[in-house]
Amino acid sequence: MNNKPTKAGVIGHPIKHSKSPLIHNYWIKKHGLNGAYEALDIPCEDLKSGVQDLINQGYAGFNVTIPHKESIAALCDTVDPLAKKCGAVNTVKIENGKLHGFNTDAFGFLTNISSQASEFDFTSGPAAVIGAGGASRAILCGLIEAQVPEIRIINRTRAKAERIVAELGADNITIIEWTQRDEALQGVNLLVNASSLGMEGQAPLELSLDLLPKNALVNDIVYTPLQTPLLKAASVRGNKTVTGIGMLLHQARPAFEKWFGILPGVDQDLQELVLR
Ligand code: ATR
Repeated sequence: MNNKPTKAGVIGHPIKHSKSPLIHNYWIKKHGLNGAYEALDIPCEDLKSGVQDLINQGYAGFNVTIPHKESIAALCDTVDPLAKKCGAVNTVKIENGKLHGFNTDAFGFLTNISSQASEFDFTSGPAAVIGAGGASRAILCGLIEAQVPEIRIINRTRAKAERIVAELGADNITIIEWTQRDEALQGVNLLVNASSLGMEGQAPLELSLDLLPKNALVNDIVYTPLQTPLLKAASVRGNKTVTGIGMLLHQARPAFEKWFGILPGVDQDLQELVLR
């Protein structure tokens, strides 16, 4: 009988603030598995040797966070088409010494919305997305996959939005000037804040919701605080809202399944543990 624990972890630099060990170790315990998940600090210059180390140690795989999400792809033997599209690998499965790269962020985004707003129909109208960083890119991939008919991307730095749109190659994405953000909410079915605005310690998101249809769904990827000023303002005027913590929790599920063979669930205890 093989009593060796299944090992996984998250690589990044710095890494000590990562919530991933809390999430995966919660599931390992909950499912009574013989496994371990650790935070692994690997600086950029040691990425290749650090990853080789994990292969040598028999790791089942690992999550990837800043600053390796883009550079890890070059070390992978295969990269899933969705991860290619997202321009980032956040999950690696090691099999027979080979690295297989995936991205689970789009899944996390879509599943968070469908689990908190099960009746929401992505195909029934335009979506407006604020922000053009890594998180926004994964969200745009998710929205394209969910067949949102029209996407409006709103970002302070237009050039960053242009780069993403060019790389995604979708013809239904429009770039909106930062100064036009209030007007861009007209007729939308979904509004997502994919920027860091509104996060504790960051600048507030200055956005008027006056033109936002009352039946639009509003999602914020910021989860500190959980009820962001955007979500509160949307809720007060009657819009349904979806908090951001679920994107983090749901993106972890398919990664856990790849290494441990079980697709775990998201429950209240896990959410509280991560928000504590
Ligand atoms: P992540 O990878 O988590 O998405 P990021 O790449 O740093 O993080 O992106 C942060 C997003 O928040 C960007 O869209 C950024 O806008 P710029 O592209 O113009 O930098 C946006 N953001 C951060 N601070 C902002 C501010 N004060 N005003 C407007 N947008 C801001």
